[in-house]
Amino acid sequence: MNIAVVVGSTGGIGRALLEALEAQGTFDEVIGLSRRTIPNVDVVDEATISAAAYTVASRGTPRLIVDATGVLADGTAVPEKTIRAIEPETMARLFATNSIGPVLLMKHFLPLLPRQGRALFATISAKVGSIGDNRLGGWYSYRASKAALNQLVRTAAIELSRTHPEAICVAVHPGTVATPLSSPFAKNRLNVLAPADAALDLLAGFARLGPQHSGGFFDRHGAPLPY
Ligand SMILES: NC(=O)c1ccc[n+]([C@@H]2O[C@H](COP(=O)([O-])OP(=O)(O)OC[C@H]3O[C@@H](n4cnc5c(N)ncnc54)[C@H](OP(=O)(O)O)[C@@H]3O)[C@@H](O)[C@H]2O)c1
Repeated sequence: MNIAVVVGSTGGIGRALLEALEAQGTFDEVIGLSRRTIPNVDVVDEATISAAAYTVASRGTPRLIVDATGVLADGTAVPEKTIRAIEPETMARLFATNSIGPVLLMKHFLPLLPRQGRALFATISAKVGSIGDNRLGGWYSYRASKAALNQLVRTAAIELSRTHPEAICVAVHPGTVATPLSSPFAKNRLNVLAPADAALDLLAGFARLGPQHSGGFFDRHGAPLPY
């Protein structure tokens, strides 16, 4: 059984990815995981991740795993416009969800990838996490948590290549997508994508990636982005 897994399958991008994968029918089974599924995955609770990985492994071989979890603003916290707005607790929560959560997914799910044949783990990062592309400033916690995520992807990809030379582990930017995460901040933006369109672009972009791209950061079409 070849399985595709979408973590964060109740989010705007995650749900669209799940639906696109089900419609394409490339995999024998498509498993969506979120805080609201059974088994549930809360990325700040490692026990839920290890239990879900165990369930996935019992069903078959995951050849595509997409992590579409993440937060930009939680509760009353909004992205910081100035360094004066930094609150350590808010920053720690964003790192817990956007950086540590995904690397815990890598810890428990990368070992499930097959050692032979094509397999891809992608985590949805964000271009604002690019240090080389940072021209506007602001959004300290979100930017830094995604930059940390990109470094964790790179580091995990190097380790993965030693045991899984054909596997691919990447960070991807989905574009600006109309979801609950972006909608408060994308009101005046042009080129805001529908989640279904972003999902199809992401899946087509994944197909353009090979083992030589593992550890990289890409846009939704598979074009490289600067770290
Ligand atoms: N939308 C954009 O324009 C845009 C641009 C660049 C990058 N991104 C990135 O794309 C990814 C998906 O975002 P989205 O736009 O689809 O946002 P969204 O609709 O708000 O979805 C976010 C997802 O993350 C999940 N999540 C949050 N905290 C979690 C936790 N502790 N454990 C497990 N799941 C958790 C949510 O689960 P619940 O349903 O349980 O809340 C939801 O499924 C994020 O990483 C985001 O940073 C989005």
